[in-house]
Amino acid sequence: MVKGAIFDLDGVLVDTAKYHYLAWKELALELGFDFTEKDNEQLKGVSRMRSLELLLQIGKISMTEAQKLELADRKNRRYVQMLQALTKADLLEGAEACILQLRQKGVKISLGSASKNAPFILEKLEIRDLFDAVVDGNMVSRAKPDPEVFLTAVQLLALKPEECCVFEDAQAGIDAAKAAGCLAIAVDKAGILMGADMTIHSLSQFQML
Ligand code: BG6
Ligand code: MG
Repeated sequence: MVKGAIFDLDGVLVDTAKYHYLAWKELALELGFDFTEKDNEQLKGVSRMRSLELLLQIGKISMTEAQKLELADRKNRRYVQMLQALTKADLLEGAEACILQLRQKGVKISLGSASKNAPFILEKLEIRDLFDAVVDGNMVSRAKPDPEVFLTAVQLLALKPEECCVFEDAQAGIDAAKAAGCLAIAVDKAGILMGADMTIHSLSQFQML
């Protein structure tokens, strides 16, 4: 019986994944190379700095730590600019209903996101109150696929990993959920994620077992 549900944010509750992609693509073009949606799959779920390192690998570019920090900051400023217009209407199909249904059954809810912008996004979406715990990129030091983000959420919910399910749209997130010992539910329209315990196309398809 599932007692806790941990939700990734970008790409599961809200379609911010497209803005991450657009902001990285702008940066890649400025640096003189193209960055495709296929390349972008590798960046999903991973931290901002790790994403930048992957991007630079794709462009075969090396630079100093100070330059990397400057670029990551530039990408983030552009991304946050894109987020300004975000409203509750940007919640993905079925997201709020799914959380409400789980809460009604007594399931505890946590966020488990790599994003340092998560508190701002939750505010914009007006859903902060639906969470018993929020774990985001400001609280963890090891990026997915490391299980730290989900183990922290499990701990804050005062549950065991095997009592929790994780909703994820990224391969790094599915791997992190499995490494944490949780049930991994892939939210995967394209059918490209591997190793999940269950796959759904969107949260509107989720029915409590
Ligand atoms: C994850 C996204 O949720 O957060 C990644 O899937 C992103 O694409 C990561 O890089 C970090 O986000 P932010 O908002 O802290 O740059
Ligand atoms: Mg995601």
